[in-house]
Parts: sequence; structure tokens; C-alpha cells
Amino acid sequence: MDPIAKYLVLSLPTSANAHEWLEKSLNGGNCPVANFNVPDFQVGTLDSLVQESEDLSKLDQQLAGSISKVVDILSAVSEPGAARFVNGTPVLRYVESFSWNTSKYRVDKSIGDLIKLISNEAISLDGDVRSTYQQYQTAKSNFLAADRKRNGDLSIKSLHEIVRPEQFVTDSEHLTTILVAVPKSQKSDFESSYETLVQFVIPRSAEVIAQDSEFNLYTVTLFKKYANEFVTKCREKKWSPRTDFEYSEDKLNDMRKEFDLTRATESRSKNDLLRLVKTAYSDIFAAWFHIKAIRVYVESVLRYGLPPQFDCTLVKFERSNLKNISKARKELVAKFGYLGGDGFSGKSNLNEYASLVDTEYEPFVMYEVEII
Ligand SMILES: *[C@@H]1O[C@H](CO)[C@@H](O)[C@H](O)[C@H]1NC(C)=O
Ligand SMILES: *[C@@H]1O[C@H](CO)[C@@H](O)[C@H](O)[C@H]1NC(C)=O
Repeated sequence: MDPIAKYLVLSLPTSANAHEWLEKSLNGGNCPVANFNVPDFQVGTLDSLVQESEDLSKLDQQLAGSISKVVDILSAVSEPGAARFVNGTPVLRYVESFSWNTSKYRVDKSIGDLIKLISNEAISLDGDVRSTYQQYQTAKSNFLAADRKRNGDLSIKSLHEIVRPEQFVTDSEHLTTILVAVPKSQKSDFESSYETLVQFVIPRSAEVIAQDSEFNLYTVTLFKKYANEFVTKCREKKWSPRTDFEYSEDKLNDMRKEFDLTRATESRSKNDLLRLVKTAYSDIFAAWFHIKAIRVYVESVLRYGLPPQFDCTLVKFERSNLKNISKARKELVAKFGYLGGDGFSGKSNLNEYASLVDTEYEPFVMYEVEII
């Protein structure tokens, strides 16, 4: 799916004084810039930060995957191009005005606890979405099957509403009546050859009892003994003998009930799914951005040290501007690459370590975020 926008999430030391340059010079000054409001968290030990950095990187990807699954489902069950909302706010505005939800996630908790709290919620929602989607898929295929039975063409639909008992030979020990759906284009082939397909077809017994745009439905009467062979010959000619049909009032009623029931079930599970998936999009998206906020913070502390003195910024690439993002990344590395240099006292070991655990490693904290 095409992204509706991309962002670079940046964290740079306050001393780099980056804001004005980002706004006026990056990519020719063509990218809107917003503050990314990351609160101060309770920092634990260096070991726990390194572990959290790894966990956050995985979780970040996992939640992005959940959102993409949710968006797929949303586009399948809602009208195309429907606007997406996070907490009642259009998604891009939510991103650009992101603020940590302190009433939901108290920042006096440890970073580890916050990660667990946020991710458990999101992962359990993701599970609900998957199982509800599965239920909807089942309901939908049941309904489609019932719909084919009721409204399909004469080669597949149920014939209970079409065929009447008097069109069948029912009181003979030796004779039977077979129904065959024949493509209209093969009318003359069928009519000139059915009597001789097998022995003992009753001559001139073929009668068209129904038709739709593609098929004529014939009854043919013949000796029971040759019925199987006749059916096989019909199949060889790609006609559709309807041996599944057996006249019964009960079956007719069952079919009507099945259609109504599967239709109601499909529509109910679609509504359930739509409701859940809208909530899930909003909640998982919010969880994802809270995880990003923690991730940016943890990485910044790992790179730039304590006390925290860094500024977090979102640089926006609109749909028309998406292609400029890799060029902008290069400009950023040229401008701020010195931050990762040897001169960055005492942290070079940590930098090496981080570059092993974090595949998106850059000389400063930078993540690319795709909003789909
Ligand atoms: C914070 O979370 C609560 C509970 O989910 C929610 O009702 C509220 O709208 C959120 N506030 C913001 C500003 O997102
Ligand atoms: C950004 O991308 C657009 C479309 O690809 C291009 O026309 C424009 O010149 C680019 N702007 C800059 C400043 O690179």
C-alpha cells in the first residue's frame, strides 16, 4: 500500500541547534517540521537500556506490521479512501501533535513496565483482530456458497425453486429423469446427440424446463441402468448434469433458511469486524507512537548520555515529496554526521555495540516512519 506520508523522527543534541536548519535548509526547506514531544522517563541501568533498545526495535517493527494488517482489513471492509483517525484525530494530525498520554501511561513507571503495558494491550488487540477477521472470512464464504446456490447460473444453483415434481418420472421401476445444464452455444450439438450418447435414451424426451443467459436446463429420460454412463458422457462434453438434485420440499425450505441465515451472519460479523478494526487502528497506532517515543528516548540516552539534552523532531514528507526522503537523509548525515565521530567522548564502544543491534543505525538518532 502506498504511504500517505513519511516522517523522519530525529533526535539531535540540543547543542547541535538543528531546528532552524531543518526548517529552512533540509531538502530546500520543503519539509514541514514539528516537535516530537517525548517526556522524560525514569532511566534505569545501562544494561537495562541496552536490553530495552533491542526490545523496542523489535516491538516497533511488530506494531508497524500489525497496523499494516489492520489497514489491509480496513480497506477490504470499509469504503475506499475513508479517513483514518487515532483517538478521534485524523492520523497525520495525531502524529504531528503527538503528546504522551500521561493519564493512560504514567511516566513515573519504569521504562520496562511502560513497554510491557503498551505492548501487551496492542498485541492482545492484534490477536482479537486476527480472530475476528477469521470469523468474518468464514461467514463470508458461507454466504457466498449459499448465494451461489440461490443465485448462481443453472450449472451450479440449487434447482429447488425451478423444478416441479411433474417434470420427473418418479413412478417407474426402470426409467429415470436426469437434469442437464447445457451452454446455450451448444444447444444444437446437445439436441442432435443426446439420444445417442448411450443406449436406451427415450427419444424426444429432452425438454428445456428453464434457462438463464448462459444455460438451458434440460430434462432427459432414460433407462436407470444407463444413467451413470449418460452422466459421464455429458461431463466429457462439458455439459453440467445436475445429479446433486433430488426433489424435496424440505430441501427448498432449508436452502431459503440457509441463505437468510448466512446473509445475516455475514453482515453482522462484518459490522463487528469494522467496529473492532477501527478501534484497533486507533489504539495500535497510538501504542506504536508511544513505543517510538520511548525508543527515541532510550536511543538518545544511549548515544548522547545523561542528563538528557536532546531535541526530538518530526520532519514530514508529503505524498508528493516522498521521493526526496533518501536525499534528505544524506543531507542530514552530511550535516550532523560529526555527532557519531570519534570525538564523541567515551561512547565509541557503545556506538559499536548499538550498530550491531540496531540495523537502522545512523551517526545520530533517526528513524523513518511510513504512514499507510
Ligand atoms: C489517553 O488515553 C485515554 C484512555 O485510552 C483516552 O480516553 C484519551 O483520549 C487519551 N488522551 C489522549 C490525549 O490521547
Ligand atoms: C522533491 O520531489 C519532487 C517530486 O519528486 C521534485 O519535483 C522536487 O524537485 C523535489 N524537491 C527537492 C527540493 O528536492
